[in-house]
Amino acid sequence: MPLKTILTALVASLGLLAAAPVLNTTKSLETVKAHFTRSLQNHPDPAKYPRSSNADGSFSAVASSDWTSGFFPGSLWYLYEYTKDKKWEAEARRWTAGLEKEQFNRGTHDLGFMLYCSYGNGLRLTNDPAYRAVLLAGAKSLMTRFNPRVGAIKSWDTKQWQYPVIVDNMMNLELLFWATKASGDSSYYKAAVTHALTTMKNHFRPDNSSYHVVNYDTLTGRVLARETAQGFANESAWARGQAWGLYGYTATYRATKDRRFLAQAQRIADFFLHHPALPADKVPYWDFNVPTPGPANEPRDASAAAIAASGLLELSQYAGKQGAEYKQAALQILESLSSPNYLAKPGTNNDFVLMHSTGHKPAKSEMDVPLVYADYYYIEGLLRARKMGIK
Ligand code: GLY
Repeated sequence: MPLKTILTALVASLGLLAAAPVLNTTKSLETVKAHFTRSLQNHPDPAKYPRSSNADGSFSAVASSDWTSGFFPGSLWYLYEYTKDKKWEAEARRWTAGLEKEQFNRGTHDLGFMLYCSYGNGLRLTNDPAYRAVLLAGAKSLMTRFNPRVGAIKSWDTKQWQYPVIVDNMMNLELLFWATKASGDSSYYKAAVTHALTTMKNHFRPDNSSYHVVNYDTLTGRVLARETAQGFANESAWARGQAWGLYGYTATYRATKDRRFLAQAQRIADFFLHHPALPADKVPYWDFNVPTPGPANEPRDASAAAIAASGLLELSQYAGKQGAEYKQAALQILESLSSPNYLAKPGTNNDFVLMHSTGHKPAKSEMDVPLVYADYYYIEGLLRARKMGIK
């Protein structure tokens, strides 16, 4: 074979190699472990749940009643699952225990986040009956926020809206689906399905993007307004909201096998992945509709990317021939997040794993910072990728 042909073939194969996914989940998870090891040393008080960084760069932590409190213990459970090392189980148990009183918290719709990520993963990995009891009590508390007239669980107790339901709330349904399985009481399942159908009917625009907040009239069940709280505008597509919807409808399909929910998850995935404002590395800006002249100076939201990646990996297994596209996109996101552009060096970033998330830009809060839930869904995504053979 002439030398030129060999060289051409070599260059072509190098090109292909460069394009092939290079995600190394072991390497990424070892970095995760290094961050969490330091975090446990630097922030050992389990009453102060790591959340983010403040505007001045200092570490921010929250009480167990905050919606984000379950993600740090949940991540510790994932590290136990990854390492099988009892040391991580002991830490996960220690940080989970502080959430126990939240099972009776009726003032939040976020009990799914708070309890299912912590106690739910703990139960899955240990079968501890005490965890089961906490989760069932938590599901009962969440049910007190379900209004059959509206057909949805109330998100926030605020004077601004009569009965606000946010798309994020799709993430709290897994706890209810689990509760029916665990107890045999179908009321949890029915409420969750009703909530998912109401949200499907009222939260989505013709282009399959989602409103953030839908406000209902409790007497008639009718929609009073469609607005935003954390997005750029009422009519914009807040990036994390799209990711919550994608993940939430995928999980709802897993629990129900109702193909309407699978179709909804796919429509959201297609909106997210084919949006012209999605950057090449597939880590979105904090809102898909940030204003002209363009998003270049706007912060990204790595949390939206991590949630979407984990959701897409699950969706890829249900979506037939479209599954390959979702899997490839998810791996590309995880690869981007595993690059030095997003994955912090151990000893930096207040011991959080990922950089460049956005919590609440309209309130000028948590802009371009680490967020504990970005880390949780990134770790979950890496573990899901490993279960699909990507080590
Ligand atoms: N559920 C609140 C948020 O995504 O910021």
